[in-house]
Amino acid sequence: MQIDHSIRLQSIKPALERAFDFGLRQLDRMVQTWPPERPAPIHTRNGRWYRPRFMWTDWCPGFFAGMMWLAYQRTREPVWRERAETYTRALEPRKFDRSVHDLGFIFLPTVNRWYELLEDSDPMRERLADWLITAATVQSFRWQDAGPDPFIYSFNGPHSLFIDIMMNIRLLFRAHQLGGGPELYERAMAHAFTTEKYLIMKNGPRLMDEDGAAIHEAIFNPVTGEFRNLSTQQGYSPFTCWSRGLAWAIYGFTEAYRYSGERLFLETAERCAGFYLRNTPDSGVPYWDYGAPNIPNEPVDSSAAVVAAGGFWSLSRLPEAKRQQDYHAAALQILATLCSDDYLGTHDPNYEGILRHAVYHRPNNWGVDESVMWGEYFLLEVLTRLLEEA
Ligand code: GLY
Repeated sequence: MQIDHSIRLQSIKPALERAFDFGLRQLDRMVQTWPPERPAPIHTRNGRWYRPRFMWTDWCPGFFAGMMWLAYQRTREPVWRERAETYTRALEPRKFDRSVHDLGFIFLPTVNRWYELLEDSDPMRERLADWLITAATVQSFRWQDAGPDPFIYSFNGPHSLFIDIMMNIRLLFRAHQLGGGPELYERAMAHAFTTEKYLIMKNGPRLMDEDGAAIHEAIFNPVTGEFRNLSTQQGYSPFTCWSRGLAWAIYGFTEAYRYSGERLFLETAERCAGFYLRNTPDSGVPYWDYGAPNIPNEPVDSSAAVVAAGGFWSLSRLPEAKRQQDYHAAALQILATLCSDDYLGTHDPNYEGILRHAVYHRPNNWGVDESVMWGEYFLLEVLTRLLEEA
């Protein structure tokens, strides 16, 4: 994308505020039909929120409740606080869930945000810290260390390393800060090193090897831990860059650097950011996979764009980042596109989502050109940050 440095935060602020307000109205509607005792939906189907009967993996309820925390953070309206607490409490049993790699996605937008809103002296803090440490410890049990490159394994099993887990190891770093044991930090670090080694491409002679491209999955021998091959679940192929995976990498490596100060993680985030900036259309919104065969006649993924915008914003806060100004401008450019009527669900009063044109799982045809729960959450998250800065 050609970065447009003329876009100023002040000039797009009204559009960002309008998008946030629209988001709150849609969230209010969602709360009416999806009470806390009803498991949360994942994506829309024909514009209506939907929870598939076959779940594959249930990784999104923290985004739903997390939006309520963001609503409270921005508006300070008690009703959002009450809802946020109620929906978050309903998630507590998930802290023992050993079947997913997504506990960071579930508890960072909810329990950690709750913790951060409390005064140091609030006794609830101890309980929330304990909750986060328990969840992080359970997450860390998904540990594959038979080979030389250990990692937290995906819900697929001990042979599988996913790029998305870079976002979930933030929970281990955070829990370590809150008093969790040293192995939480050690496992998060080792996982990030292994991810960089296998899932982030370098320029090379093989098909589509381009510096900073992110691959969805790597397969290891589950017994010996030796690397076997690259793979994908939601991307087009094992050799192409799934755009949301790239976005998770930009954001996840930036956060791993923030927690650890490890320069390799910052360099990796910047390499992935470089791939995004070189290969994404000027709108700032990528097609669902950079190697999808029929570009430009392929669906775009607005959720990849909004996660990337969050990553770019986070990178832009680091004075040591090489292209700090570019990252901030890229975040604004993406948001200027997404906060227009072309992307918001403002076009149709019956449409239930906030951000349109996202993709959940293109190979399985799930949630294609729809709204997705994480797209909604990361939109409100980055809007909250930018509007606090404005
Ligand atoms: N499974 C995580 C994602 O869809 O990005």
